[in-house]
Amino acid sequence: MSIHSDDTRRVTTHRLQEMKARGEKISMLTSYDYTMASIVDGAGIDVILVGDSASNVVCGNTTTLPITLDQMIFLAKAVVRATKRALVVVDMPFGSYQGNSKEALASAIRIMKESHCDCLKLEGGEEIIESVKRILCAGIPIMGHLGLMPQSINKYGSYTVRAKEENEAEKLLRDAKLLEEAGCFALVLEKIPAKLAEQVAREVSIPVIGIGAGGGVDGQVLVLHDMLGLTNGFSPRFLRRYANMHETMTNAVKHYISDVKSCDFPNEQEQY
Ligand code: KIV
Repeated sequence: MSIHSDDTRRVTTHRLQEMKARGEKISMLTSYDYTMASIVDGAGIDVILVGDSASNVVCGNTTTLPITLDQMIFLAKAVVRATKRALVVVDMPFGSYQGNSKEALASAIRIMKESHCDCLKLEGGEEIIESVKRILCAGIPIMGHLGLMPQSINKYGSYTVRAKEENEAEKLLRDAKLLEEAGCFALVLEKIPAKLAEQVAREVSIPVIGIGAGGGVDGQVLVLHDMLGLTNGFSPRFLRRYANMHETMTNAVKHYISDVKSCDFPNEQEQY
């Protein structure tokens, strides 16, 4: 039996919860544009994340902090247009929800209204719970994000593994339960010890999707550009590369340059 689903029905937050209940792992990848999202959706991914990692891999920033609400909406619109089956989750960018919960709701409504995505992802637990509750009250589904939270990089100063110490692990577990209690439909756990991630997945009823959080969770997410090998020079232990697109594309571009310079392209059949 194929492990790829032939089910072409749209993935919903409810269906993700059913997948957890029957032990079926959830697949999730980022996408930031129409062409990539068409490929990822067509291949049968369950969830597409329009991640604020676009700040790094699309815009060339060193952190996720500079990307704006307008830029996230621009990218999300293109991804939604391409997606027929996957659930589309959009990251709320840094600065759009951390302060006043009324402003958080206004940002959330803008993303939903303008991009037509399915739901939003926010980084943090107790500190942002008022914003989470207010957005949920408006009927907007939320995916939480705990562990390594790239929007807080300036607080920690590094992208090292989080929640290794007992007090940090206890806080993470508390935050996960708080987000579940508030009504989040799922949770991303980034770069934390596998044992802790497994414990969280066991102790909450909502799906837990890991990145660098081991195999004991309910699903996995990777940044598309990293798993395709489009980016090079970024090799954390948790990253498995499924292609070397950097090399493939470099070779294709070199081949094209050479064909243009040598007048091999275009040939008789490639003109009118
Ligand atoms: O922005 C992003 O790509 C993410 C994933 C790493 C989960 O938040």
